[in-house]
Amino acid sequence: MKIKIAPSILSADFSNLCAELKKVEAAGADLIHVDVMDGHFVPNITIGPVVVKYIRKCTKLPLDVHLMIENPAKYIGAFVNAGSDMITVHIETVSAANIKAQSVKLKARGIKFGVSLNPSTPISKIKPVLKYIDFVLVMSVNPGFGGQAFIIGAITKIRQLRAIFKKDIAVDGGINDVTAKLVKEAGANVLAAGSYIFGAKNTKKAINSLR
Ligand code: DX5
Ligand code: ZN
Repeated sequence: MKIKIAPSILSADFSNLCAELKKVEAAGADLIHVDVMDGHFVPNITIGPVVVKYIRKCTKLPLDVHLMIENPAKYIGAFVNAGSDMITVHIETVSAANIKAQSVKLKARGIKFGVSLNPSTPISKIKPVLKYIDFVLVMSVNPGFGGQAFIIGAITKIRQLRAIFKKDIAVDGGINDVTAKLVKEAGANVLAAGSYIFGAKNTKKAINSLR
């Protein structure tokens, strides 16, 4: 499968966000990963739909919006209206029935829909909803902050998932040139990376090394 690289803007310089997006786009990024945190589901607060609306003007790349928030169904519409192309919710925050309902709505609007699971959440939790979604986002850190160390248990999870799921498998947290190899071997094909890409002196080199 084609490997897609999704720089996470959590590690970007927010005083220059538009320039940062243009920089990763020019360096060959495939998606822009946008981390939305509410201070409830995770112990950090980041950005809302208003920021998505403005960064939409800065790049042609699809905006991959990762909702680390409680009650995501309440806010999905606002993030779609703001210009999101892909929406990810956490399985820890929604019921299977709700995922089914959201998948119908998002499909009608041409939005790709994914479900994420925390390091401590087993694959069995998402099995019932795999038929409703376009991709799975495997967390390889506990969500909340950029720059954390990769949790190795994610590898087994990706491998188990790849055996039963043929669509995109994304991985998020602690991705660098070393861990990228491991997750690709295990079957992941979308790599979200924040500190490794935005902390690099040579952005293009960093993106190519992940690919
Ligand atoms: C973590 C976020 C990640 C994070 C990745 O809660 O969902 O997308 O920004 O950052 P790095 O690549 O630095 O681990
Ligand atoms: Zn993320």
